[in-house]
Amino acid sequence: MSTEEKIMEMQDRKYTLQQGGGQKRIKQQHDKGKLTARERISKLVDPGSFVEIDAFVTHRCSDFGMDKETAPADGVITGYATIDNRPIYLYSQDFTVRGGSLGEMHAKKITKVMDMAMKMGCPIICINDSGGARIQEGIDSLSGYGEIFFRNTMASGVIPQISVILGPCAGGAVYSPALTDFIFMVDDISKMFITGPQVVETATGEKVTEEQLGGAQTHNTTSGVAHLQYSSEEDCFNGIRTLLSYLPQNNLEDTPICENEDDLNRLSVELNSIIPDSPNKSYDVKEVIERIVDNGQLFEIQPQFAQNIVVGFARLNGKSIGLVANQPKVKAGALDINASDKAARFIRFCDSFNIPVVTLTDVPAFLPGVDQEHNGIIRHGAKLLYAYSEATVPKINIILRKAYGGAYIAMSSKHLGTDLVFAWPTAEIAVMGPEGAANIIFRNDIKNSDDPINYRQEKIEEYRDRFTNPYTAAARGYIDDVIEPEATRPRLISALEMLQSKRETRPPKKHGNIPL
Ligand code: HXC
Repeated sequence: MSTEEKIMEMQDRKYTLQQGGGQKRIKQQHDKGKLTARERISKLVDPGSFVEIDAFVTHRCSDFGMDKETAPADGVITGYATIDNRPIYLYSQDFTVRGGSLGEMHAKKITKVMDMAMKMGCPIICINDSGGARIQEGIDSLSGYGEIFFRNTMASGVIPQISVILGPCAGGAVYSPALTDFIFMVDDISKMFITGPQVVETATGEKVTEEQLGGAQTHNTTSGVAHLQYSSEEDCFNGIRTLLSYLPQNNLEDTPICENEDDLNRLSVELNSIIPDSPNKSYDVKEVIERIVDNGQLFEIQPQFAQNIVVGFARLNGKSIGLVANQPKVKAGALDINASDKAARFIRFCDSFNIPVVTLTDVPAFLPGVDQEHNGIIRHGAKLLYAYSEATVPKINIILRKAYGGAYIAMSSKHLGTDLVFAWPTAEIAVMGPEGAANIIFRNDIKNSDDPINYRQEKIEEYRDRFTNPYTAAARGYIDDVIEPEATRPRLISALEMLQSKRETRPPKKHGNIPL
């Protein structure tokens, strides 16, 4: 064969590999409303930037007639590319090839790019569209999953790991995404479950559709397994690019700095009147966030799950911050099991990747109730205490209104190592609300009073005057300053500048034991 012929042969081979499972299966994929593995990559990354590796890898299974079967690229496309000119590694499972099922070599291709992403300190994006363990390959498939889980764990807190679910994701296959930092899902296409509807019905008698059991809506609203939901694959890829714009390449690098045109000294007079006069009235904390951050832009994480707490990324003076804010509009902003889990995991992500955490506090309590107690609010609430205490990134808290009891401590209080705590003049910091407090400490006096109703009211007011303001806490230095609400943005920006050089260490240990 001449050199020219050899080059042509190579090109032919590559062309064949690029057809994946062939036109018929590509059409089936499109008919299901899904893009192919390669189309997904080209829509996600910077045009022309993708470099494929291991395209020639194929399986070496000979059981169940597999020796006669081909599997182009062994059902997964792997390689590297850039997104906004920053390098990333990725893999995209090809459902047109044996249902994207994962065997020995398919797994080896994935672990190779994971290892490279770790070594080079680049984010990895994992596009999942697979029937799970390749049944013909038996234990080799299982070992493949195990190798991936191990690397997901090693990479945790070292490089950002993003999972995209764009097809079925069943059995153990759900656990690699679950070990990564963010899970993106798309309506109708994405499914995640340990066992499908048939097994559920056999095991428990429950009848449920795939969508109800593990669709995008379910995991974004009910289970909290997923972080973001989109109506199309294109929107989903835009979401991934936006998320990456807030993140550093790895745990040793700083986050990218965006050009900022929003005035650093911008005052927001609307904030002076955003807190209602009545303590029982709610407002939307997202309106507060929008008035503080650069260009009013918040990239919310888990926007539909545990809506009593808002978490997400934003920028101040062009630099990424992680925002955690109680949402008075939902459950009065009380901390429950799901809100504690959601916020704690987000804070730990920010801490792993050098993203300062800014907290906006308006919290009446940990949510009381038998259901909460029996499902472990103590254990889950403790995660939040742990996450804030453990975090060594710059931490700033603004107390907007209520900060009561254990929830006051949990929401980035000074006592958990928060660097700067500011309060608005509307802040109320106490062990509990004035009504509850008066009922307990003056119970007997109220009972014995000639006019219990008025007497109780008097005591409520007395307690309110004493504690429902920021000044008692400020007198002890638990609050660093009481600030005009309108000046929150400039105060936060200058505080973050000051905290930029923060260095804080923790006692040497293998790792802590966060309550799980
Ligand atoms: C081998 C598989 C496969 C698998 C699909 N295929 N899943 N081949 N191993 N796990 C093949 C099919 O045989 C078919 O090949 C082609 O892929 C397309 O699949 P279809 O069934 O035609 O597609 P569809 O109707 O869209 O259904 C998709 C599906 C279904 C829901 C994913 O294929 C399915 O239920 N697959 C099995 C799922 C499963 O039980 N996986 C194992 C989970 S256990 P042909 O040649 O016929 O077109 C597991 C353990 C991991 O993953 C543990 C890790 C710790």
